[in-house]
Amino acid sequence: AMSQQQLEERVSEIKAELGDDLFIPAHHYQKDEVVQFADAIGDSLELANICKDSTAKYIAFCGVHFMAETADMLTNDEQIVLLPDMRAGCSMADMANINQVERCDDLLQSTYGIDCLPLTYVNSTAHIKAFVGKKGGSCLTSGNAHKVVKHALEQNKVILFLPDQHLGRNTAYDLGVPLEAMAIYDPISETLEFEGEVQDIRIVLWKGHCSVHEKFTIENIKNVRQQHPGMRIIVHPECTFDVVQASDDSGSTRKILEVITSAPAGTKWAIGTEMNLVNRIIKDNPDKEIISLNPFMCACLTMNRIDLPHLVWCLNNIVEHRFDNQIVVDKETTTHALRALNQMLSLQ
Ligand code: 13P
Ligand code: SF4
Repeated sequence: AMSQQQLEERVSEIKAELGDDLFIPAHHYQKDEVVQFADAIGDSLELANICKDSTAKYIAFCGVHFMAETADMLTNDEQIVLLPDMRAGCSMADMANINQVERCDDLLQSTYGIDCLPLTYVNSTAHIKAFVGKKGGSCLTSGNAHKVVKHALEQNKVILFLPDQHLGRNTAYDLGVPLEAMAIYDPISETLEFEGEVQDIRIVLWKGHCSVHEKFTIENIKNVRQQHPGMRIIVHPECTFDVVQASDDSGSTRKILEVITSAPAGTKWAIGTEMNLVNRIIKDNPDKEIISLNPFMCACLTMNRIDLPHLVWCLNNIVEHRFDNQIVVDKETTTHALRALNQMLSLQ
């Protein structure tokens, strides 16, 4: 096996060899050993925009599968998007498949008379984005969720929010939708749960969640309040409703970064988001006292599958024109999904 240093040298070598033909975007949750070689680092919204503008022949996407799919759809046919480890999926995106979503849509129409307007978090498969595009809906990310949901609410249709119930609930609540007007659809039991009358439902939340952000708890918040008086708590909106409500602030990856970076020296922060990002924020802000809201840290295992050996393997593949790890979304799916993606990008 190659040493860390040999691996690093190999990445630098291939980067120099391929020049502008190669572009390496990396999500903020990626490991430092990968991020050090990134041409761009960002959250999902920023990376989607950056890939759309990229003219590179090869895009070695350091992130998870749905992000690479999105990059493939937003770039042209000649550009090749590769994922350094094909097992880098997203447990949340796996919680909604297209058959389940179509069954839900049928049930809403036939049993409840609801012709929904679907919205999907970009953390979803290309097929789900295509379903949403066909029905006139939009994609969204944590960075523009308020804007997209607000726009959808103004159309006076019942929203079907896929696949993260927490982002959906937190966002809709912020926009004034009461909890009683939210129903939840369970794709396993294929049932819709709600408290009031059917005609009062404004949003149907898909019962999916992020296994990383669900690990931040009310217990964690109590402990921070007790052990670190004066410490401010900021969490990602993929955290549960109770946790977001009990925190001092919540926001997308980008917002968390902006809030902490612009905070005065000496301020104290507990952050509820992925471990690699929290560690990087701690390192980049030595003038502040920063901890993870959950003391055991919360790592996204699939994001962490992309490491230096996988990056080198991927780059070697490019040099050898061996594209086994290329991510390709078929034309038909892309056409429909692009409507939902472009709808999101036009709302910025
Ligand atoms: P953002 O990059 O949109 O903040 O999403 C967080 C996340 O969980 C990505 O998978
Ligand atoms: Fe998916 Fe959560 Fe990991 Fe993001 S952090 S890739 S939503 S499992």
